[in-house]
Amino acid sequence: MLKTLLKQIGSVKTASILTPIFIALEVVMGVLIPYVTSWIIDEGIAKGDIGNVYKYGGIMLVLAAFSMTFGILAGRFSAMASSGFARNLRDAMFRNIQTFSFSNIDKFSSSGLVTRMTTDVNNLQNAFQMLLRVSVRAPLNLVFSIFMCVFINTQMSLIFVIALAILGTALFLIISRTVKLFTQVFKKYDDLNNVVQENVSAIRVVKAFVREDYENKKFSKAARALYSLFVRTESLMALNHPVMMVVVYGCIISLSWFGAKHIVGGDLTTGQLTSLFTYVMTILSALMMLSMIFVQLTMSAASGKRIAEVINEKADIVNPANPVMSVPDGSIDFDHVRFTYNKTGALPTPATLMAGQSAATITDCDYAVNDVTLHIGSGETVGIIGGTGCGKSTLAMLISRMYDVSQGSIKVGGVDVRDYDLETLRDNVSMVLQKNVLFSGTVLDNLRWGKSDASLEECKRACKLACADEFIEEMPDGYDTVIEQGGANVSGGQKQRLCIARALLKNPKVLVLDDSTSACDTATDARISKSLRDYMPEVTKIIVAQRVHSVMNANRIIVMESGRVTGFDTHDNLLKTNEIYREIYNIQTQDSGDFDKPK
Ligand SMILES: Nc1ncnc2c1ncn2[C@@H]1O[C@H](COP(=O)(O)OP(=O)(O)O)[C@@H](O)[C@H]1O
Ligand SMILES: [Mg+2]
Repeated sequence: MLKTLLKQIGSVKTASILTPIFIALEVVMGVLIPYVTSWIIDEGIAKGDIGNVYKYGGIMLVLAAFSMTFGILAGRFSAMASSGFARNLRDAMFRNIQTFSFSNIDKFSSSGLVTRMTTDVNNLQNAFQMLLRVSVRAPLNLVFSIFMCVFINTQMSLIFVIALAILGTALFLIISRTVKLFTQVFKKYDDLNNVVQENVSAIRVVKAFVREDYENKKFSKAARALYSLFVRTESLMALNHPVMMVVVYGCIISLSWFGAKHIVGGDLTTGQLTSLFTYVMTILSALMMLSMIFVQLTMSAASGKRIAEVINEKADIVNPANPVMSVPDGSIDFDHVRFTYNKTGALPTPATLMAGQSAATITDCDYAVNDVTLHIGSGETVGIIGGTGCGKSTLAMLISRMYDVSQGSIKVGGVDVRDYDLETLRDNVSMVLQKNVLFSGTVLDNLRWGKSDASLEECKRACKLACADEFIEEMPDGYDTVIEQGGANVSGGQKQRLCIARALLKNPKVLVLDDSTSACDTATDARISKSLRDYMPEVTKIIVAQRVHSVMNANRIIVMESGRVTGFDTHDNLLKTNEIYREIYNIQTQDSGDFDKPK
C-alpha cells in the first residue's frame, strides 16, 4: 500500500523535499532566537549597555526575518506538495476506474468509489501536509532545544527529563484510546455517506413513495451515531491540552525554584533562565505535535488502504494478446454457458483450504445463467422473455463481454468474444443497458457520445429509426436542446429512445436492447421494432422485454426461467409447446386492463 501511495508523490517530489528543508531552516532560526534573547538580557540590560541591546537586537531582527521567509516558503511548498499529491491520487484512481469491468465496479459500488475519490483523498492530503510540516519540525525542535538546555545548564535539564516522562505517558494513554475510536469514526462516516448518496440519487423515488420521514430518520440515526462517536473521541483528545498545561506549569515552577538557587549560586544568569523557559515550551509542544501526527497518520492509514485498493485493482476483463480486430457477422453462439456473480465460492483458494474450511460450492441457484446453448443467425431478430431476475439482462451482457462467462463460451461471428479487441467487440455489439443514462449536454452531444464523428444527417437517421425524431423536433432547440444531468428533463420513454438512437449510430452488427422500450407506449414500441426490422435487416437484434407484445413479432423467442432457457422457438410454436410462454401470453393479453373481470 505504501509503495502505491509513494509512487503518486512522483511529480511533486521537488516540493516534497523542499518543504522539510525550509522548515528545518526555520527551526534553526527559531532555536537561535531565544539564545540571542539571553545575550540581550545578560550583556545589554543587566549590564546597562544600550549598545549591546542594539547590537543583539539587530541580530535578532535579521534572524526573525530569515525565519519568516523560510516559514513562508515552507508553507507554499507544502501546499504544492500536498495538493499535488491529492491530484495525483485522484488521477490514478480515475484512470484505473475507467478500465474497470462491471464486476470490478460491483466490488466497490459506485458510492464507495465516490467516497474514496473525495473524503479519503482529503484525509490523505491533510496527513501528508502535516507529515511534511511537522515530522521535521517537531523532532528537530526537540533535539535542538534539549541540546541548548544541556548546553546552558546540564543539571537543570533533568527537569525536562522528568516532565517528558510524565507527558509522554499521559499522551500515550490518551492517544492509544483515540486511535481506536477514530477507526470507528471513519466507518460511521462511510455509513453516513452511503445514506446521503443513496438518498440524493434516488430523491425522486423517495418523494414518489412519500418516504421522506423514513429517510430523515435513517439519516438522523447515521448522523447521531457519528455525533456521539465524535464527541467521545474529541473529548478524549481535548484532555491533551490540560495535561500539557499541568506539565508546562510544573516545569515553570520547578525552573523558577531551581533557577533562583542557581542564580544565587552564581552558575546561571537571568538571561539563561529566560531562554530555558522558552525552550521548555518548545520541547513540550514538539512532543505534542508528534503525538498529533501519530493520530493523524493512524487515521489516514485506513483511507490510504482504501485508495491503494482502487489504484491496484486489476481490471478483470482485458484485451487478449493478439486481438481479433473485426467482427465478420452478427451470428451468436452460446455453448454450455454458465455464469455466476458469486465468484468467491468458485474455487477453493489455498487460504480457505489452509484454514480448514471446505470451499463453498456453487449450487445451481447461484448461476444467473445456467447451461445455455443456442445459435442465433446473423440478421435474426430474437426476443428474450421471462420473469424479473431470471437472468435476461445477464445473458445479454455476456454477449458484449460486460462480464466474462464462468464456464462455456460465447462466439460472435464465429469468434470467441474473449479473442476480440474489446473496443471492436463493443462497437459491433451495441448495447442499450437496462439502466441506461444520458449525460448532461445537448441531444447531439449525447448521440455523438456513441460515435464522435457522426454527421448531423447520420444522427437524424438514427433518431428516426428509434422514433426519437418526433419529440426532438418539438423541443425548443431541437437537436441542440440541453439534456440535464441524468436526463432529468426528458421522460422515461424519450430517454430510452435517445439511448436506442445512440446505440444505432455505431452501425453495429448486433444490437441488444435490454428492456429498452419498457417506458414507451405499445404503439411506439411496435413502430420502433418495425423500423429496426425494415431498415436494418442485416443487424442481429436481441430484444429483452417484459411484454409479450415487444417480442412476439421476433423471428424466434428465448424463454428463460431461473437462469435456464426453457424454450427457443417462434411465437406460434412456443404457444403450443412452452407452458411458461403460454402463461405469460395469456396473462398479458386476455386480462390486460380489465382487472375487475373474474377469472
Ligand atoms: N451485479 C450483480 N451482482 C450480483 N448479482 C446480480 C447482479 N446483477 C444481477 N444479479 C442477480 O442475477 C440474477 C439475474 O439478474 P438479471 O439478469 O438482471 O435478471 P433480469 O434481467 O431477467 O431481471 C438475479 O437473481 C439478480 O439478483
Ligand atoms: Mg433485466
